[in-house]
Amino acid sequence: MPILSGHARIAGIIGWPVSHSRSPRLHGFWLERYQLDGAYIPLPIEPLDFGGAVRGLVACGFAGANVTIPHKLAAFEVCDAVDDTARRAGAVNTLVFKDGRISGSNTDGWGFIANVRHHGIDPLPDSALLLGAGGSTRAIAAALQAAGVSVTIANRTRERAVRLAGDLPGIRVVEWAARSEALANHGMLVNTTSLGMAGHGPVDIDLNRARPDLVVADIVYVPMETGLLAAARARGLRCVGGLGLLLFQAIPGFRAWFGAEPSVDVDLERFVAADLMPK
Ligand SMILES: NC(=O)c1ccc[n+]([C@@H]2O[C@H](COP(=O)([O-])OP(=O)(O)OC[C@H]3O[C@@H](n4cnc5c(N)ncnc54)[C@H](OP(=O)(O)O)[C@@H]3O)[C@@H](O)[C@H]2O)c1
Repeated sequence: MPILSGHARIAGIIGWPVSHSRSPRLHGFWLERYQLDGAYIPLPIEPLDFGGAVRGLVACGFAGANVTIPHKLAAFEVCDAVDDTARRAGAVNTLVFKDGRISGSNTDGWGFIANVRHHGIDPLPDSALLLGAGGSTRAIAAALQAAGVSVTIANRTRERAVRLAGDLPGIRVVEWAARSEALANHGMLVNTTSLGMAGHGPVDIDLNRARPDLVVADIVYVPMETGLLAAARARGLRCVGGLGLLLFQAIPGFRAWFGAEPSVDVDLERFVAADLMPK
C-alpha cells in the first residue's frame, strides 16, 4: 500500500458481498502504475442501507464508487443526475461525487464495445444476437444500438426479453428455442447470461449454423476461456473474452476519480488474470 497524503482521492466498490470483486486489484494496479495519491477499497454494504451508506461516503469526501450486485438498480435511484448510458441501461455501475451531488453512469456497454475493438474487430459487425435479458444485456444492447448495430435478443424467460425490447425500441426478440436458427442471420453472438460461468451449465447453441465471419463474445470471465469460446475458437471463429470488459468498464470511473487516463494492456490483463486462475 502506498503512503497516502491528506489530499488523497478515495474511491471503492460497493457490493454485497464484495469479497469476490477484482476491481480493487485492477484499480490498485493503475494507482501504483501512475504513482497516484489515492486508494480504491472494497465497500461491503447491505442492501437495506444502500442510500444511507452512499450519502455517508459523499459526506466522508469520497470521490465516487463502482457499484455491483445487488445494488445497480438502487444506485440509479440514489443519483441526483444520471447520464444516457445509465438511463438506457436502467442501472448504474459508476458513481461520481462532486460538490455534494451524486452522478451516475453505466460503463458496461462502453466497456464491452471498447473490448471488442481492442480485439481488432472494427468496424463492428452489422448485427448481433444477444443471449440473455438481464442487467448486462440491457447495457450492452443499448451500446450496440447506439453504435449502429442491429440487435436481437433471446432469453429463457421470454417476458423479460419483451420488456427489454419495449424499453429499447428497435430491438428484436426471438424465442429461446430458436436461438441456433437465428444465428445464421447475425454477424455477432454475445453470451450475456450467467451460463458458462464456473458452477453453472454450459451455453447450448449450435455453432454449425454460424456464418464464417461470426464474432463470438462472452462476458463471463470465470473461467476466462468459456466452453462457448473454446467451441468457437475450434471452428476458427473470431472470439472476444469477458475479462477485457471488466478492465475497460473501469476506465471512465478511474479517470473521473483520480484524474489520470489509464490504459488496458497485457501487463494489466496478466495481473488481473493471475487472480482468476484455479488455485
Ligand atoms: N465481464 C464483465 O465485466 C461482466 C460484467 C457484468 C456481468 N458479467 C457476467 O455476466 C453474467 C450476467 O450478469 P447479469 O448481471 O446480467 O445477470 P442477471 O441480470 O442476473 O441476468 C442473468 C441472465 O442469465 C440468464 N440465465 C441464468 N441461468 C440460465 C439458464 N440456466 N438458462 C438460460 N438462461 C439463464 C437469465 O435468464 P432468465 O431471465 O430466464 O432468468 C438472465 O437473462 C454473469 O455471469 C456476470 O458475472 C460480466
